[in-house]
Amino acid sequence: MNIQENVSLRPYNTFGIDVKARYFAEVKSLDELAMVLGLESYPQKLILGGGSNMLLTADLDLLVILISLKGKEVLRQDDGHTEIRVMAGENWHDFVLWTLERDLGGLENLSLIPGSVGSAPIQNIGAYGVELKDYFVCCEVMDINSQTLHTFSLEECKFGYRDSFFKQEGKGKYVITSVTFRLTSKNHRLHTGYGTIAEELDKKEVLRPTIQDISRVVIRIRQQKLPDPATLGNSGSFFKNPVVNRHTFEKLQQIYPDIPSYKVTVDEIKIPAAWLIDSCGFKGLRQGDAGVHKHQALVLVNHGKATGKEILNLAQQIQEAVRNKFGIAIVPEVNVL
Ligand code: EPU
Repeated sequence: MNIQENVSLRPYNTFGIDVKARYFAEVKSLDELAMVLGLESYPQKLILGGGSNMLLTADLDLLVILISLKGKEVLRQDDGHTEIRVMAGENWHDFVLWTLERDLGGLENLSLIPGSVGSAPIQNIGAYGVELKDYFVCCEVMDINSQTLHTFSLEECKFGYRDSFFKQEGKGKYVITSVTFRLTSKNHRLHTGYGTIAEELDKKEVLRPTIQDISRVVIRIRQQKLPDPATLGNSGSFFKNPVVNRHTFEKLQQIYPDIPSYKVTVDEIKIPAAWLIDSCGFKGLRQGDAGVHKHQALVLVNHGKATGKEILNLAQQIQEAVRNKFGIAIVPEVNVL
C-alpha cells in the first residue's frame, strides 16, 4: 500500500470541493488498515468513507485514509430472516440493490442514499419512514489507537435521529469496518406511510407493492427532489430538522398557520428545516457557485467551483436568517472540516 502526497480530494467528496490532502492512503484489507493506523510518523489521520456527509473548507495537513474494504457475506438464514455482513467500503445504494435482487426486505426505503456502508451507521441514515437502526444488528470496528477489533451492538451504538455513539463519545476513536443487517426473506414489512410514497404507488396503479416497487418509487421521488452529486455537488440535507417544544411551536403556529410539523413526543415537535429556509427566501438562491437547490431548500449545492468556505458562508447566512425570523437555531447535519 502506498502513501501518496498532495492528493486532490475532489473525487472523494460529493460536494466536489477541491482541497488537497497532504498524505493519502487507500486501504483494501483489515491488515492494511491496522498497518496504516499504526504509523506513528503520521499522528493526524482522517477516515474517509463515501465523502457524502462532509464539507471540506481547507487543505488537510494530515493523512487521509480512504476505506475501500469490500465484500458481502450471508451469515445465517432462518425461517423468514437473513443476516448479511457487508464491508464498510461497499457503496450503500449498490448494496441496497444487491439485497433487493435477492428479495431481502428492509432497506428499500433507503434506496439511492449516497455514501458508503461504513458511514451509514455514523449518522443513522434515514429516509421515507425508515432508519438504518431498524434493520441493524451490529457493526465491527477497529480502534484507531490500539488497532484492535471490537463489535458494537444495536444498543451500544446509541442511535438517534441522524445521530449515534460514533458522532458523540466515540467520535474519532473507531473505524467502522463492517455492518451486519437482519433482513426479511419473506412476509416483508412495507413502509408506505411516509409522504408521497403511497400516492406514487397509486398513480402507477400498483395495488400490492413489492419491496422492489417501493425502491423504484423512492428512487423516483429522490431523483425529482434531490440533485445527483455526479452532476451537481451536494451533501444531501445540509441541516438537521430542528425539534422544538410544544409551547414554542404553538406560538409559531399563531403567526404562521401553515407551518408543517411532525410529532416526535407529546412535548416535542419537529419542524422541517427546508420550510424554514424556504420561508426566508433562500430556495434557488446562488452566490457565485455556492447555492441552495431549486427543488429542496435543505440542500446546499456546488454549481462548479465553489470553495468549502463559500458554502459554509452561505450556510451561516441561512442559520442567521432562520434565527432572526423564527428564533430557531438550525444545526448542520454534515461534518464541516
Ligand atoms: N419543504 C419546503 N420547501 C422545500 C422542501 C420542503 O417548504 O424546498 C417542506 C414541505 O412542507 C415538506 C417538508 O418541508 O413537506 C419536508 O420535506 P421533505 O419531505 O423533502 O423532507 P425533509 O424533512 O426536508 C428529510 C430528511 C431527508 C430524507 C427526507 C425523506 C433530514 C435532515 N432530512 O428531509 O434526508 O430524504 O426527509 O425522508 O432529516 C439527508 O439526510 O441527506 C436526506 C436527504
